[in-house]
Amino acid sequence: MRYTVMIPAAGSGKRMRASQNKLFLQLGDRPILAHTLQRFQEDEWCESIIIAIKEEERLLMEAIAKKFNLSKITQFVVGGAERQHSVHACLEAYDGSIDGIILVHDAARPFIHQSTIHELVMKAQETGAAIAAVKVQDTTKVVASGIVQQTLPREQLWAIQTPQAFRYELLYNASKEALAEQFEATDESMVVERYGAPVHVVESTYDNIKMTTTADLSYGHYLLKERGE
Ligand code: C5P
Repeated sequence: MRYTVMIPAAGSGKRMRASQNKLFLQLGDRPILAHTLQRFQEDEWCESIIIAIKEEERLLMEAIAKKFNLSKITQFVVGGAERQHSVHACLEAYDGSIDGIILVHDAARPFIHQSTIHELVMKAQETGAAIAAVKVQDTTKVVASGIVQQTLPREQLWAIQTPQAFRYELLYNASKEALAEQFEATDESMVVERYGAPVHVVESTYDNIKMTTTADLSYGHYLLKERGE
């Protein structure tokens, strides 16, 4: 099995309250971004990495790629205003087969397991679209103006993560249509769902966290120690 991974890394990470892009924050002995990229560098199935960056961070990104021998990075693409635009820029830059499997993975999720990646690739190969998710553990309610409107049936609720895996042509067409119609999506699955294709769920792990707040950084340090990395 073979795939290309697209890494949107052009965000600002305002919720981390850091003075720099959160992806450059140190997690153990290297920046968060280097951990994430290494997961794919070390995965035999991964053929190439396309990363969306901010132009002003290009030199820093290239320096990280060099320092950590991330030789699978084939392209640094300039991202857009929203994550959706950054992913589309990667899709435009892709020069592989239209039948190829594409993974999109948040640069800010450094703890993804190889077993989850492989399950997603196999499922996308078989069906066209597969996303990583975990069951919601809390009771979840819809609230408006501070008042509960509805309690959702927990057994049907999943918290969606990345990687999200697709056949290239499906994701490209769905993403192009969503942008043309100014449909705002917070993940790639949304554009594919809207396009009308079924998206399959692969059960992931709770430790595949997205580094969003400083509390995540503390948990991230704990996870590194626990895994002996
Ligand atoms: O902000 P959030 O944590 O949801 O971002 C998820 C991922 O998308 C991050 O890796 C971030 O760098 C990336 N992103 C991007 N382009 C944007 C906004 C976010 O590549 N305009």
